[in-house]
Amino acid sequence: MKVNGLHLLKGDFILNHYFELAESITFVDRNNKKEIISNDPNLEFIGKGRSAIVYKIRGTNKVLKVFYPQFSHIAKEEGEIYQELQNISYFPTLYEIGENYIVIDYIQGNTLFECLLQGIQINSDIIGEVDGALNLAKQRGLNPSDIHLRNLILTSENRIQVIDVARFRQTKDCTQWRDLKKSFYTFYQKPFFPKRIPERILNFIATLYKKKIIRL
Ligand SMILES: Nc1ncnc2c1ncn2[C@@H]1O[C@H](COP(=O)(O)OP(=O)(O)O)[C@@H](O)[C@H]1O
Ligand SMILES: [Mg+2]
Repeated sequence: MKVNGLHLLKGDFILNHYFELAESITFVDRNNKKEIISNDPNLEFIGKGRSAIVYKIRGTNKVLKVFYPQFSHIAKEEGEIYQELQNISYFPTLYEIGENYIVIDYIQGNTLFECLLQGIQINSDIIGEVDGALNLAKQRGLNPSDIHLRNLILTSENRIQVIDVARFRQTKDCTQWRDLKKSFYTFYQKPFFPKRIPERILNFIATLYKKKIIRL
């Protein structure tokens, strides 16, 4: 159903409730970084990435992902990809696609990035879960891309949920997951490799990787 430019899916809220929540968020640019000036009190900040800010909607198990103004077009792209991934248990359910936001399941757990910071052990079963998720996405004709530690959430039942699927329709080959897997088997799995890694070191490694200074 399409109302006022919104694709309404399984929203259990009154019409346009998510729209109003998304509208309540105002940003300013400070030193090239987005700062939030205001947001509805029903929104609880849980994370941000390069393109969007993510809030849990209080009293629900849903999150509102609101894209920064220059990335607002990604809402439709990511929402449509989630539609293609519906009913695969490794991906959150989609509830609504708006002009600059999507509403999906809230996933309780830690991103694999947070697991490394906190020393939560990652084992080969978890790596297998990610492979399973990506294979199912491939079977639906998608090309899983941008698979990195902040886009993979480990739940308390040791299951993986994949988020941030906006680039799954790109045709370019993305090697990130292949490289992460290689690092897991070459370094992380070795008995003396530290299982807890400080954030500045992880960010430093990520920067070197992005600049192609280190290759795997
Ligand atoms: N559905 C979700 N449940 C729990 N946390 C989430 C969810 N979606 C995003 N997050 C958190 O917010 C961060 C940013 O979200 P993400 O979708 O990756 O944004 P971006 O597209 O800007 O990278 C994630 O790394 C994660 O920590
Ligand atoms: Mg992300």
